[in-house]
Amino acid sequence: MSNFFEAKVLTVHHWTDRLFSFTCTRDPGFRYQSGQFTMIGLNVDGRPLMRAYSMVSPHYEETLEFLSIKVADGPLTSRLQHIQPGDAVLVGRKASGTLLTQNLLPGRTLYLLGTGTGLAPFMSMIRDPEVYEQFEKVVLVHGCRQVAELAYAGLITTELPRNEWFGEQVARQLVYYPTVTRESFRHQGRIPTLLETGQLCREAGLPALDPAHDRFMLCGSPAMLKDTRALLDKLGLAEGNMSHPGHYVIERAFVDK
Ligand code: A2P
Repeated sequence: MSNFFEAKVLTVHHWTDRLFSFTCTRDPGFRYQSGQFTMIGLNVDGRPLMRAYSMVSPHYEETLEFLSIKVADGPLTSRLQHIQPGDAVLVGRKASGTLLTQNLLPGRTLYLLGTGTGLAPFMSMIRDPEVYEQFEKVVLVHGCRQVAELAYAGLITTELPRNEWFGEQVARQLVYYPTVTRESFRHQGRIPTLLETGQLCREAGLPALDPAHDRFMLCGSPAMLKDTRALLDKLGLAEGNMSHPGHYVIERAFVDK
C-alpha cells in the first residue's frame, strides 16, 4: 500500500494573499491524535512533493482541514495555493508529532502558543473535549502580523462556545488571546514579550505565570520557538518529549524544511 492516500479537495478558503486553508476527504483508515501532523502534497512531474502540515480538523471529524501559507516560489505552496474543489491532494497515512498532552506533566493551565500557521495543531486541540478534562484553563495565544491573518477567530469566539457537545467547556475554560504585531489591535506584541512582561496574563485576567501549574505547547517560526523557549527555560521549565513528560513541548517538524 502507498504511504499516501489521494484525497479530494472539498472547499478552499483564502484568508489573505499570504494564507489559505482547505478541507478534503479523509481515508477512513487515517487516524490521528489532537495536535499531530502528517505529510501532505501534490504529484509534481510524476513524483509526490510532500511537506509536514498539522491537522486543523479535530480527530473525530469526517473530513480533514489544513492551513497553509502561500509562498510565490515555494516548491509546494506555489502550486497548492491554486487548488480548487474536486482536485486531488496527497495525504500521508501516518500521523506524528510532539504536541500531545501526554508529553506534558499534569498542570492546571495549558498555554497553546502559535504564530502564523502555527495555530493549526491547536485548532484540533481546542475542539477535543479530553483536553478540557485534563486542564482547568486552556489559553490559546495566536500571534500574527495583521488582523486578517487571525484565521478562525470567528469560529473560536462565536461557534465553539455554542457547540452542542463541548460548548460549555469552551465557554468556561478556553481563553483566546489573539495578538498582532504590524497594525493596531486590542492586543499587540510578540508572544515572548507579552509573557515576560506579564501583559498577556494581566489582559487575559489570568494569574501570573507559575511553573508549578502552567504547561505550554509551542508552534511557530524558528525565531519564535527560540525566543519563547529561552523565556520558558529562564523560568526553570523543562522540555518534554515522548519518553519524559515536561513543562513544555515544541513542534519541530516545520523547522528548516
Ligand atoms: P513581527 O511582525 O514582529 O515579525 P510570520 O508571518 O513572519 O511567520 O510572523 C508571524 C508572527 O510571529 C508575527 O506577529 C511576527 O512578529 C511574530 N514573530 C516573528 N519573530 C518572532 C519571535 N522571535 N518571537 C515571537 N514572535 C515572533
